Amino acid sequence: MASKPDKRGPSYDQLSAGTRNARPLLHQNAPEIQPYGKIAKLPIALDEKVCAASAENLNQLLADTITLRDLYKKHHWQVAGHTFYQLHLLFDKHYGEQNELVDTIAERIQSLGAISLAMAADVAETTIIPRPPRGREEVPVQISRLLEAHEILLKEARTMAKQADEAGDDGTNDVIVSDIIRTNELQVWFLAEHVVDVPLVRAEGVKGASAGS
Ligand SMILES: [Fe+2]
Repeated sequence: MASKPDKRGPSYDQLSAGTRNARPLLHQNAPEIQPYGKIAKLPIALDEKVCAASAENLNQLLADTITLRDLYKKHHWQVAGHTFYQLHLLFDKHYGEQNELVDTIAERIQSLGAISLAMAADVAETTIIPRPPRGREEVPVQISRLLEAHEILLKEARTMAKQADEAGDDGTNDVIVSDIIRTNELQVWFLAEHVVDVPLVRAEGVKGASAGS
């Protein structure tokens, strides 16, 4: 005997058809819409060749800034010794400032109609900052490594700032000078003062200083 149709609501087929537009479309794949290294010209009154040259320089700065940022986090985690607390905090502060620079640089690249690097494997292939060992290093070695990375970055940043200026790319010049160079110079100062070998308690050359009076 055939069962009676259920008239209390829509049939399963009707329900199924009604959700068709609400279902997620999974496992989609298509060719990329803009290959890396190509410019999708934006109306910013800047020649495409200038945009391409600036983007290439900025991607190098981006890879090195991401590497320096991550070096700070490595040292934030692995720092040891009697200055642990202050360096643990300082390294994370600099990490945060470098992280802001990463976003500023990447978005400048996109503003030029170019594509910014993003993934760790691409960064590793591009950066010119030497790869540190995975293990823990002493504080003076950590600081030396960071100072060397800053100087590599500052050296290329100064050259690239001039190139952007000469090409008429004021926006890129401004990002490199106002954001990258100034932030890195300030961080170098804060780091370098930690490896000045000054007495902690008793001044050198003071003889016969006694406790109390
Ligand atoms: Fe932390």
